[in-house]
Amino acid sequence: MKTKRVIINQENQAEALREAAELLHQGEVVAFPTETVYGLGANALDSAACEKIFQIKGRPADNPLIVHVASVEDAKKIVRYWPAEADLCAAKFWPGPLTIVLPKDESIPGIISAGLDTVAIRMPSHPVALALIQAVKVPLAAPSANISGKPSPTDGEHVWQDLNGKLPLILDSGRTDYGLESTVLDLSGTNPTILRPGGITREQLIAELGKVELDAGVNGQLQASAKPKAPGMKYRHYAPRGKVILLDKESDSEIAEAVRFQLKNKKNQEKLALLCLRETASILESEIPVKVDLLYILGSRNNLQEAASRLFEGLRLCDEQGIDIIMAEGMTTEGIGLAYMNRLQKAVGKNSYLGFEKI
Ligand code: TXA
Ligand code: MG
Repeated sequence: MKTKRVIINQENQAEALREAAELLHQGEVVAFPTETVYGLGANALDSAACEKIFQIKGRPADNPLIVHVASVEDAKKIVRYWPAEADLCAAKFWPGPLTIVLPKDESIPGIISAGLDTVAIRMPSHPVALALIQAVKVPLAAPSANISGKPSPTDGEHVWQDLNGKLPLILDSGRTDYGLESTVLDLSGTNPTILRPGGITREQLIAELGKVELDAGVNGQLQASAKPKAPGMKYRHYAPRGKVILLDKESDSEIAEAVRFQLKNKKNQEKLALLCLRETASILESEIPVKVDLLYILGSRNNLQEAASRLFEGLRLCDEQGIDIIMAEGMTTEGIGLAYMNRLQKAVGKNSYLGFEKI
């Protein structure tokens, strides 16, 4: 299939949205930007269209899709009930990177919920995503627009590299703001529970809701026999080709020591990358005599939000450059750091669900 890629600007946006809406009405799949990562969208009320999403991504059928809406009213139409917590969250965090899981209405096809009794819903804040849902006038089912198992796409170019030839249209608005996926919050049980940390932090949710639990599937706390509530969390997502080593050390000097160790033990033909904060890089600059093959600066310690947003881009760059060993700097698990460390640990494969490792 020939894929058209439209780099969105003010002049062509209306026409591109019209074309995308028409394709979606015809049961086709279209990639579009959101403020978190790019989505691979289809009409959520059309099972056959949603089936295409699974085929294009090579996504396991037991991994449900998030449904994207353009208003709270539209969200209420696809659930069996809408609790007070959902109102609080929607008022504070929508549109934005928060996905809410609630008991699903029967209008939602089984393929979307992968057999679960719930549906995950979010209202994105990216103007192109919102305008697209408004133009189509149906909710859009959309997972991240990457081949299953690869880091999520944070730039239209990443979508193009993964999916060119597999779908008719990619709407490209350049780099996304958050660079990590939305927070998935389960409001269908007794206590609000984070199934996947993301753009809205646990601290922000606690400020609104009081107590917010972390599902055991987050950050590899799972027992080998336990199942995470978000099925997607069991897969070794976000995995680049190279081996990822997490530099999760207390001090700059310990990190420098760990990097020096890797350099010393590097085999001749191996290519090495270092993904780290600017402050760490400047310390290592003077301490390490041998240069790594790729030095990727995530950002500054003073702006961890920005640094976290560059993780997937950094991992993808490592693949492009044929890197064998990727040393990646850890950060605090407070704030956005919880989502960053969750994705990084999955890239490392530090996850008791490795037995279920993705294709
Ligand atoms: O930021 C995002 O959430 C992006 C953009 C495109 O909106 N989407 C995204 O979708 O990351 P995806 O499919 O890559 O990840 C969705 C996650 C998976 O871990 C999936 O298992 C979980 O949400 N999920 C979906 N529906 C669920 C449900 N009913 N119950 C529990 N988890 C669910
Ligand atoms: Mg994904």
